[in-house]
Amino acid sequence: MTDAHTAGDRAIPPMSGRARLLAAARRQPTDTTPVWFMRQAGRCLPEYRALRERHDFMTVATTPELATQATLMPVGRFGVDGAVLFADIMLPLTGMGVPFEIRPNIGPVIADPIRTAADVARLRVVDPEEGTPYVLAALRLLRGELGERAALLGFAGAPFTLACYLIEGRSSREYPLTKALMYGAPDVWHALMDTLTEVTIRYLRGQIGAGADAVQLFDSWLGLLGPDAYAAFVLPYTTRIFAALRGTAPTIHFSTGTASLLDAIASAGSDVISLDWRVRLDDAWARIGVHRGVQGNLDSTLVLAPWPAVAAGVKDVLAQAAGRPGHIFNLGHGILPETDPDVLARIVGLVHGDLDGSPDPGR
Ligand code: CP3
Repeated sequence: MTDAHTAGDRAIPPMSGRARLLAAARRQPTDTTPVWFMRQAGRCLPEYRALRERHDFMTVATTPELATQATLMPVGRFGVDGAVLFADIMLPLTGMGVPFEIRPNIGPVIADPIRTAADVARLRVVDPEEGTPYVLAALRLLRGELGERAALLGFAGAPFTLACYLIEGRSSREYPLTKALMYGAPDVWHALMDTLTEVTIRYLRGQIGAGADAVQLFDSWLGLLGPDAYAAFVLPYTTRIFAALRGTAPTIHFSTGTASLLDAIASAGSDVISLDWRVRLDDAWARIGVHRGVQGNLDSTLVLAPWPAVAAGVKDVLAQAAGRPGHIFNLGHGILPETDPDVLARIVGLVHGDLDGSPDPGR
């Protein structure tokens, strides 16, 4: 424990995983640092790959019993403090009237992308009870299954990242069509962002009502924007989402490659800001202020290195957090599919300071 961080000096009685993660999200002291991993329920797990041999991705994501099974896999195996719902940021789009598919190794593909004012006008503002009832059902099942073992994390794609897929139609390096529409047809852009914002607020409120203990907004492609474009075209919408959720459940704002946007991102108003490895956690925390929580930020590729390098990286992140209330340990982005799950379990042990393998309370 002594070599990892100072949690042991805080004299906080042992906490359950759920209490630990939620306390950190509220910047309250914890017995030790909470930890979960983005994409923890995915292809790095042999049991997930076996499930996917029997069912395609969308079947798992839209069948509450299967989504529950996939969500719980990493909780048991890694001992993480957060269980992130097995779902995808694209799911609400079906109910909005935009069919899509998830192609293996490519990701989301939309046959008829949204590119004109008429396309945007056709989008439906849908409630989750109607558009994604299976997501709410999975959360209800999971809340019962998890007990105090882990916090249940809901999530949604942020309007900008969803707009990238809606306009481009698939993953891209630069999202040129998206940015051209944003700069060139601001009226269409703002109408699209407005609709996505409304759907996202209803979706996340629905998830919290169904049992999500905290929610993360994934703005994965935000690093494409400079500060002025971010302020003009995105910030008003994310600000609206976090304002609409205030007082319901803690919120986490995720993005990558956004060191130049951190002050503006902080002003959007989430409880916790998720950082990637391109910024030092202590520098970022000083910039956004210690009255905000931070999540992160181990390099997702460092986890592929030999254990001594991984352990040094984990300890460095913990040293930068310095035991301050409000740190949730995570990678800076999702787990890579080639990651060894045993290394992830070891990271959890190191972060928790229970290298002797003693089980946590509540597990
Ligand atoms: O464990 C978890 O993190 C929960 C599940 C989860 C998935 N997608 C499952 C999934 C979460 C939180 C997401 C969010 C998501 N989906 C994001 C934001 C997070 C990020 O990493 O930035 C984005 C951009 C998407 C869109 C998307 N869906 C992509 C880029 C891909 C991967 C394409 C590929 O094959 O590499 C998907 C498909 C997807 N979503 C998979 C999983 C486990 C892989 C599909 C499979 O099992 O074949």
